[in-house]
Amino acid sequence: MNPFDSPIDRSGSDSIKWGKYAGRDILPLWVADMDFAAPPAVIAAITQRLAHPVLGYGQPPASVADAVIDHLERHYDWRIEAEWIVWLPGLVTGLNVACRAVDGAVQTATPVYPPFLSAPRFSGRELQRIELDFDDRHWSLDPARLAAATTRDSGLYLLCHPHNPVGRCWSRRELDTIAEHAEKNDLIVCADEIHCGLILDEDKRHIPFATLSPAIARRTITLMAPSKTFNIPGLGCAFAVISEPALRRRFLRAMDGIVPHVNVLGFAACEAAYRDCDDWHAGLLGTLRRNRAAVDAAVNAEKCLKMAPVEATYLAWLDVSELGLADPAAHFESHGLGLSDGRDFGAPGWLRLNFGCPQATLDEALRRLHRACAAA
Ligand SMILES: Cc1ncc(COP(=O)(O)O)c(C=O)c1O
Repeated sequence: MNPFDSPIDRSGSDSIKWGKYAGRDILPLWVADMDFAAPPAVIAAITQRLAHPVLGYGQPPASVADAVIDHLERHYDWRIEAEWIVWLPGLVTGLNVACRAVDGAVQTATPVYPPFLSAPRFSGRELQRIELDFDDRHWSLDPARLAAATTRDSGLYLLCHPHNPVGRCWSRRELDTIAEHAEKNDLIVCADEIHCGLILDEDKRHIPFATLSPAIARRTITLMAPSKTFNIPGLGCAFAVISEPALRRRFLRAMDGIVPHVNVLGFAACEAAYRDCDDWHAGLLGTLRRNRAAVDAAVNAEKCLKMAPVEATYLAWLDVSELGLADPAAHFESHGLGLSDGRDFGAPGWLRLNFGCPQATLDEALRRLHRACAAA
């Protein structure tokens, strides 16, 4: 049996995902963590760390930076230096720090992961939205819209790469368009690449934005973490890579007094995830590809639903607007399926389905999806 298909009961645990519907027969396929056990090598590393009973403030051991550096070179052909790494307790923290560190209005392409919309507001920055185009099968970024959204005040572009929720793995040509836009308008780019280890299309690969050219690297803050790929977001260990010293100093200054240390178990997990989990990762991608095919087939069998193929992430972004529901998320919940509400992403009439779960859970979820559509 595929080890990713072993059911693990998370009800009654400390899980946000499962706690939301505690005591109700609603399958939670919303927030972005997977119902899979962490890799055995990660559990072993945490257990080994706990053999030392003192859990004081941590500092990143050199070996964790080495694991990051080696991982980025092996997977993305990206050579970075240890001093470019700024450790963070999470990427949302990084998005908010970037908005504080860089002056001016903040641009982002929508629909998008909600903190991209709230971080500018929290920092008193204007938000300049660029609507992505959808032609029923494909999401794309229109360069004319980039130009139209830009003002003299534009200062920062928040790039979601791969893009949550639309599942795009942006191509080199598309990234070049954003890079030209950033250079022409002198923008800093904060590239959230948290899903970069989850490219499902075998003919695509993740290209870190900062690798486009040395000039682009100088205006880029890259945010990454092992949290999505290795399913350890509860351990709160992430990092920024900022090669340009002055930009790095600005980022560090904006963190002052509000960003806590990364916890010591997070460092242990991060190192093991990047160093020792290639086989686990290959098994995960195979499982997610199978699940993606099941979701694709189920959605395409419903006349009133639409979705683009998911190139990356374990998130399917569903257009349910043709069902004509006033509150789609509530309707699906009433049929036993808890999905993320598109309104939070700037897209009413859409729902996001997390397919990072064992086959039996997904099969039941897709049966409920069908029943909910039939009842609409
Ligand atoms: C694009 C993106 N960025 C950031 C996060 C969350 O990052 P963190 O938990 O490290 O704050 C998510 C979680 O789903 C995400 O999809």
